[in-house]
Parts: sequence; C-alpha cells; structure tokens
Amino acid sequence: MTALTLSTAAVPGLRADAIVVGVAKGTNGPVVAPGAEAVDAAYDGGLADVLETLGASGGEGEVTKVPAPSGFKAPLILAVGLGAAAEKGAGYGAEALRRAAGVAARALVGAKKAAFALPLADAADAGAVGEGALLGAYSFDAYKENGKDAKGRGGKAPLADVVLLGGKPRDRAYKAAVERAAAVGEELNRARDLINMPPNDLTPAAFAALAQDAAKLHGLKIQVLDEKALTKGGYGGILGVGSGSAATPRLVKLSYTSSKAKKHLALVGKGITYDSGGISLKPAGHNETMKCDMSGAAAVFATVVAAARLGLEVNVTGWLALAENMPSGTAVRPGDVLRMFSGKTVEVLNTDAEGRLVLADALWAASQEKPDAIVDVATLTGAMMLALGSRTFGIMANDEAFRGAIHEAAAAAGEESWPMPLPEHLRKGMDSQVADIANMGERMGGGLVAGLFLREFVGEGITWAHLDIAGPAFNEGGPFGYTPKGGTGSAVRTLVRLAELAAAGELS
Ligand code: BES
Ligand code: MN
Ligand code: ZN
Repeated sequence: MTALTLSTAAVPGLRADAIVVGVAKGTNGPVVAPGAEAVDAAYDGGLADVLETLGASGGEGEVTKVPAPSGFKAPLILAVGLGAAAEKGAGYGAEALRRAAGVAARALVGAKKAAFALPLADAADAGAVGEGALLGAYSFDAYKENGKDAKGRGGKAPLADVVLLGGKPRDRAYKAAVERAAAVGEELNRARDLINMPPNDLTPAAFAALAQDAAKLHGLKIQVLDEKALTKGGYGGILGVGSGSAATPRLVKLSYTSSKAKKHLALVGKGITYDSGGISLKPAGHNETMKCDMSGAAAVFATVVAAARLGLEVNVTGWLALAENMPSGTAVRPGDVLRMFSGKTVEVLNTDAEGRLVLADALWAASQEKPDAIVDVATLTGAMMLALGSRTFGIMANDEAFRGAIHEAAAAAGEESWPMPLPEHLRKGMDSQVADIANMGERMGGGLVAGLFLREFVGEGITWAHLDIAGPAFNEGGPFGYTPKGGTGSAVRTLVRLAELAAAGELS
C-alpha cells in the first residue's frame, strides 16, 4: 500500500527517487507550474527551456524525465503535463491535479519514493494530488507468479511512498485533506481489487466473508443472509438469480452509524460475482469481463468503510446483493415467475436481465428502514454503455433535484455522469401476461427500462436514485490519468461525497 505524507522539506536535500513537477501549456511553449520554483532555480530558471528541448508541450498526460541538477539528492525530475496554463491568480483545479498526479505515479512504477511539487492553491488541492497519486500507483498482482517479487507491470512494484510538498503539514485543513485522500484512495483501491479478483475465488460467500472482516476491523454492524435465511425471508429475486450456481447467493447489510447523525443514507449495490447470462447465455465476446458485474456492490462496500474511517456524521447502510448468474439444471428459466421480497411477482423473460432482480429485493429491504434516501449502483445495462460511452455513468431518479445533486457531487469528485430520464411510456413494455411485471421491456432505451423496473421496488415516498455504471466500471482500454486497466472503482468518490453532503445536511 502506498503511504501518503505532507512535508516542508527543501527540495535539493530531499532523499527520493524522483521530484515531480508540473508543466503547463503556455502561449509561447511550456511553462513550469507553481510549486517547482526551487527546482527551476537550480536550472537557473531554465527548466521550461530544458523541457521544451526534450519535446515537452505541457499537454495533459505528458511525462518528461530530466536528470536532476547537481547538488540534488534525488536523481530525477519528472515533469508531468497539466494542460492549459492557469490564468493569473487561478488554480489548476482538483481534477487536473488528480490526473497529473496519477500519470506521474504510473510513470514512477518501480520507484520507492517520490516527492510531488505540484501547484497547490489550498488544502483541497493537496487532497486531490494525494488521491490521484494513490489511485495512479494501484496495481493488481495478487495472482502473478511469485506475487511479492514479480509485481505486475513488467515485474515492478508500484510507487511506495508519496511525499506532498507545498502544503502546510501542521494546518488542520491540510491534515484532514490528506487523511481523506488516504481513506478514499485506499478503499477505492480495495474495491478495484474485488472487481479484478477472478470469479472462481470471489464468490458471493467469499465477498460476504471479506465484508465480515472489514466490519470487525472498522466496528461496523453486519448481517449476512445466506441461502437458508433468504429462503425464509422470501427474497425470490436474489434466490432466483443465484439458483443456477453452486456458489449460493448472499444479501449483506453493512451499517455504519454515527452518534451525531441526523440523516440516514442507504446504498444498494449490484453484486453479480459473474454474469454468464444464465439460460439466456451470453455469447463469447460478451462474457470475458463479466467478473466486473459486482462493481456496484464493491463501490457500496468501499463507501461504507470510507465513511467509517472518516467518522462522517451520518448513518450509512450498505446493501450488497450478491449472486452468481449461471446456467444449469436448477437455474431460473425464461418463463419462470419469481415472487419477490416485496410480494410482487416478476416474469423472467430474459435471465440475463438479472441485475434488476437482485436489486429489487435489496431496494425493498433497504426501504423497510425508511432511510432519507436510497442510491443504488449497478453495472446494469449494455444500453447505458451505448448511450454514454465507457467513461460516464447514467443517473436516474424519482426526484429531479436529487438527480441533479448527484450529478454535481460526481463532478466535484472528479467523476463523469449524466442525468437520464425515466419516461413513463416505457413502463407498459414490461406488462406481463402472467405476473405483475416482466424483467424485460422495449429494447430501445434499455437503460431507462431497467430504471423504471427498479423504481417499482422502492418504498413509497422514499427519495431514490439509480446509477448505471456499466460503462465506466471496467476499463478495457489502456490506463489513463489515475485510471488503470480493469476495475476502476467507479462511483466510490461520488458516493463518499454524497455521504459527506448528507452529513452536512446539504442533501435532500
Ligand atoms: N451485466 C450486464 C450489463 C453489462 C453489459 C455490464 C456490459 C457491463 C458491460 C447485465 O446484466 C445485462 O446482461 N443486461 C442486459 C439486459 C437485457 C437482457 C435486457 C443487456 O444490457 O443486454
Ligand atoms: Mn446480465
Ligand atoms: Zn449483469
């Protein structure tokens, strides 16, 4: 795990493998960003010229390595591009800093310690650099041969020590920002680990056991319903989806409570540990990444733990709806009717529309506690991916103001999202001949159809939103900014921000 500290050490004498500075795109070539003054002075004010000679422009994502000037204890200066230079008096903004720090941390794989001298306008900027560095330094190597030595990324271990320069280590706001970055960064990285874990190991029972370990460690209340308890309770949705797998389903309730809480936020995560499609089997080409189908549950899990570590003054209940969707002689069939936990009946027309079935039971369970708001998170539909691409999640809600607040919270947290509608006319496509509702409707607007289905299982009068993270949950392309290949930890930062807003009384 990467360590994060604030320091006021002077740069020349600082022992590290590299000093990270920012370079931005000026009108006449690259300019060195604030924070790098001491480094620039050691080049007699010529660092920008040196970087330009080496082909640097200051563009986002660019990395330029320069030998450190003589007299420096660190051997290397790593200049990372920040994009357009900030106007006089304006800062670079949290997300530009987060991305640049992530790019630098990725470029420094194999190094032990790096000092980041990026332009910090305030404590929030220090938090952003810390968060970006921790997220960029992530690697998943638990399954590499000789795990400990032959780390991933070509046998190199991720950057171990991140030192933040230019902040105020004794200032409470800076300390809090760095602690927050560490808690969010570490828990988000743990969510990535869960997503990347192969589905033969991360079964619903294994996921529940990991939640139990975390509950013990962080003093959380936990309740795990196994197959027997789910049967007794009448959770027909979760049981139906899990019925085809030898790895039986679970519903996990993980609660963080604060004695100072005035609000209660419930988070519900889709936790399909593997989505084969079931009897409506997915063809090859569509099932290789389906271990990521528990990304919603991973995000909810990470958020509850982060809320506890940060001591937020809000109650947060996480519901993890865990099941494996497999075809077998005991699997649910197209045509079956399930009696859900809410009492409604659902005709299963397509067993690959399983996420909404497990979520329906968890949403109804969450509703019984009458929380102030429920947010569910799910890799729910390929349609949302077609609509918004691979970096943006869709937000649907039964309350327009709440949907807007989540969209804003996501932007502030550095996550791309977009508000989507729940058009009433799409509901009738799910009318069933035999049951109260079918689990499929019109193909067009499939993401919105899924949202309308979920809405039916939210308790009367409860504010609710649904985040479809099918696009951004799993990065099939190359790494960028602070985002690695594979599990991304999508929605964690948005959910943490929502919990913070709820604690501050600024949400619904
Ligand atoms: N887990 C998938 C959705 C998904 C697709 C997530 C691609 C991430 C990447 C979900 O369970 C699913 O199969 N949805 C179907 C629904 C359809 C059968 C109504 C889909 O989107 O095709
Ligand atoms: Mn599916
Ligand atoms: Zn699925």
